[in-house]
Amino acid sequence: MSDPYETLLREANGRPFAAIVGWPVEHSRSPALHGYWLKQHGIDGHYGRLPVERDGAALRRLVAFLRANANARGCNLTLPHKIDIMPLLDHVHPDAVHIGAVNTVVKRADGSLEGRNSDGFGFLAALKAGAPKWRAAAGPAVLLGAGGAAHAVVATLVQAGVPELRVVNRTQSAAAALAASFMPEDGRRIVVGRWEERGKALDGVTLLVNTTSLGMKDQPPLDLDLARLPETAVVDDIVYVPLETRLLAAARARGNACVDGLNMLLHQGRMGFEAWFGQEVDVSAEQRRAVAADLGA
Ligand code: ATR
Repeated sequence: MSDPYETLLREANGRPFAAIVGWPVEHSRSPALHGYWLKQHGIDGHYGRLPVERDGAALRRLVAFLRANANARGCNLTLPHKIDIMPLLDHVHPDAVHIGAVNTVVKRADGSLEGRNSDGFGFLAALKAGAPKWRAAAGPAVLLGAGGAAHAVVATLVQAGVPELRVVNRTQSAAAALAASFMPEDGRRIVVGRWEERGKALDGVTLLVNTTSLGMKDQPPLDLDLARLPETAVVDDIVYVPLETRLLAAARARGNACVDGLNMLLHQGRMGFEAWFGQEVDVSAEQRRAVAADLGA
């Protein structure tokens, strides 16, 4: 098998480049979404894929590669590297420290490497675009899950001013640990609920967010009774394969405004692209169609 670093350099062919780094990385849609922007703005750059194993030496090699290569502008990180990369970087943005994970690495003009997290930004931008009337301060919200994505969404919703955030996860101790990580300032606004009572947690909320993997292709569906969910509530499922999860289909059928996970993916990409290639970008319906086609959706 050829060395993935050599492959990436060959593809970049002397142009500035970034890449999605993870294990596995073949299924990532990031090359499609960044490739769209490169083409749209006529930028002579490249965004590729770099498979890097979960192993300290492999991650150190990545960091050394980014530092040594003049055309390397940075990378995105997906599983399993979002946390392990943090101590290897020169700077970590305070928002990423707060979330506890890095998904974007940017090489600064002085050559140092900065870690950022764009998941929260992407989540909020997609929510605002998909449900412009939603107001954080208007009432309680409920979030299902307590994994990596949940951390970014909780940090963002608390910062946006949600007065009460109910976090409900199958493993309750993980939800409690998540809430504890926001103590002392914001912890009081986070209320941990029981998974068995997730239907009851929907009482009076303005927003329901699914950050679990339930409903994703090849995973079990999310079993959730929506009877208590107000019709005015927004339902946001960050799963994007499939685009229309059973949760979103059920919510749409009863009149709730819905936001799917693809827009979050597109918006989170903006932070890296703008830093690497120096071009402001926006998410368009055409880009969404191009990436959705790439998903086979
Ligand atoms: P990510 O980083 O993408 O958020 P993750 O850290 O693996 O992914 O988190 C997956 C989330 O889906 C967790 O909240 C997990 O619940 P547990 O903490 O109990 O594991 C949730 N999840 C996965 N499978 C589930 C299932 N069958 N029933 C309920 N929750 C499930």
